[in-house]
Amino acid sequence: MRFDIITIFPQIFKEVFDFGIVRRAVEANLVRIHVHDLRDYTYDRHRQVDDRPFGGGAGMVMKPEPLFRAVEAITNDTADAKVVLLSPQGRPFAQETAREYAALDRVVLICGRYEGVDERVVEDLVNDEVSIGDYVLSGGEIPAMVVVDAVTRLIPGALGCEQSAERESFVGGLLDHPHYTRPAEFRGLKTPEVLLNGNHAEIEKWRRRKAIEKTLRRRPDLILNRELSDEERRELDEAKRNCS
Ligand code: ADE
Repeated sequence: MRFDIITIFPQIFKEVFDFGIVRRAVEANLVRIHVHDLRDYTYDRHRQVDDRPFGGGAGMVMKPEPLFRAVEAITNDTADAKVVLLSPQGRPFAQETAREYAALDRVVLICGRYEGVDERVVEDLVNDEVSIGDYVLSGGEIPAMVVVDAVTRLIPGALGCEQSAERESFVGGLLDHPHYTRPAEFRGLKTPEVLLNGNHAEIEKWRRRKAIEKTLRRRPDLILNRELSDEERRELDEAKRNCS
């Protein structure tokens, strides 16, 4: 799959994808990431990408022409690119959204800056608008990095071991279970016995139970929004008893 990122700060992306799983995915040709300087799509001497808001008010607004021009130039070889604006007004970007994007061939990410972008961009150019959380960042660059990272790890082959994508937090709608590694005892803090005895059925059960307990304690909203199997329902009831 291919990502195109449109930004006024292309330098920010210089190294961020050069590490870990994303780097491996790029090297394996599973994903291509192109970063575009929005100012390259301006035609005026000042390479202006923003202007004052009609109607007055504080701050500047991103002009429509460079954004339309950039997206049209970048997608002129394809009919089906998803054009995504990163903004605090967007729908929440969640694991489900990442999964949706991971199934696409082309995703164009527009990094908003200033007070926002001209509404005609929102209405006529983009086909999705996403937010990475209920807080306001200085621009869409960090959210774009978040999206690329979260989506890339879901592309088949991107993770060394396929299994780990299936098991991570949120995949089953639950937070991840706790993890331990050597030493089995550290400063008197012990690893739960069940993880040391090699009984895989017991280990699985313990992990599922811990995932449910943790989710219940920290993110009960995730449990409420999720269908549970009978087995999970029994474990949830037991976890509730343990938590209270
Ligand atoms: N731009 C500024 N804040 C943002 C957020 N929370 N999510 C996505 N884009 C943003």
